[in-house]
Amino acid sequence: MDSVAPARSIPQIPPDWLKPSAPPLEIDFGCHRGAFLLGMATLHPGVHFLGIEKQSDRVDKCNARALRMGLANARAVQGTGAGALDPLPDSSVAIFHLSFPDPWPKRRHAARRVFQEEFVQAVRRVLRADGTLRLMTDNEPYFREMEALTHADWTACPWEDAREHVETAFEKTFRRLGLQPFRLALRPLFPHGENESLDR
Ligand SMILES: C[S@@+](CC[C@H](N)C(=O)[O-])C[C@H]1O[C@@H](n2cnc3c(N)ncnc32)[C@H](O)[C@@H]1O
Repeated sequence: MDSVAPARSIPQIPPDWLKPSAPPLEIDFGCHRGAFLLGMATLHPGVHFLGIEKQSDRVDKCNARALRMGLANARAVQGTGAGALDPLPDSSVAIFHLSFPDPWPKRRHAARRVFQEEFVQAVRRVLRADGTLRLMTDNEPYFREMEALTHADWTACPWEDAREHVETAFEKTFRRLGLQPFRLALRPLFPHGENESLDR
């Protein structure tokens, strides 16, 4: 008799996390297997950490580790690109982390980069007016593109935010090699829906 693999239950965002009264929500976009997500959730139990990751096997590994670690404030869901933010209400995210997004260094592949105008707009929609977007990459051309895409409607703020952080998995690897990642923390200049740069 053929054995049938049990159906994989699809991880979902806990509905309670999206209520206005919920603890602050942070997104780790491209969370890999959750090194940063789980480390931050351990350090900051009063915050909900949601990982969004393209690869479902990584999502499962991350959630299995969260379960083993007894972390009720960490969860990963599968999603790709700007559309992965559609389930999130407007102004629901306190901090949005994008660390070492795939750089697609060949010029002909640059269109595959996740950080593009549509993505920036989607992040802006879900981010609170007092929220922060934190970007980190080892790829300078990509970093300059991030700066250009956020130049008109965002303002830089200090990277250090007076709380403890853990390194992401890729950050750890790069630092071990003696490399310094490019980093940028940003706040939106205008409330969502009042994008003045479009009115000019
Ligand atoms: C280079 S790794 C960085 C992982 C982690 N953020 C870190 O700093 O250690 C990029 C991660 O983003 C995921 N990813 C790539 N493109 C994506 C997309 N369009 N949407 C969601 N996740 C994506 C990859 O599967 C991978 O886990």
